[in-house]
Amino acid sequence: MAALKVLRMPTFNLTRLLTQLLFLPPMQSAATRVPSNTQERKGDVEAQTEWKQKGRIHSKKSVKANLVGGKRYLWCACGYSKNQPFCDGTHLWKRFRLKIKQHPVFFKAPKDMTASLCLCKQTNKPPYCDGTHRRKEVQEAVIEEPK
Ligand code: FES
Repeated sequence: MAALKVLRMPTFNLTRLLTQLLFLPPMQSAATRVPSNTQERKGDVEAQTEWKQKGRIHSKKSVKANLVGGKRYLWCACGYSKNQPFCDGTHLWKRFRLKIKQHPVFFKAPKDMTASLCLCKQTNKPPYCDGTHRRKEVQEAVIEEPK
């Protein structure tokens, strides 16, 4: 007797599909993000996993940006924007092909200022540089070329 093959249809979630197609990132301000300082306490493997879940390393240094007080900015968290350190929408258009899971971070400059913004995308205080790019894992990482 021939084995009966059961075809499984992929599950289809319309709400999820629409959310992804009409993607509006959850508003996540830099001020409301909780910095994760637990990385030091975890084992190397766990720390590396957490590190890989952040965006692609665009550059192994930060960039100084002149910010206008009161203006809203959108910092690229995925590392694929061609308008670094700001988002250009690449995370939206290439999210399926590049498997991008990060969302940009809205922030507002409190005053006219020059700020050091993260380009390695591994900071724990997005969008600002916290010196994470000096860590060994970041400095030794191979920068993946954008596809
Ligand atoms: Fe990187 Fe939008 S392009 S977060």
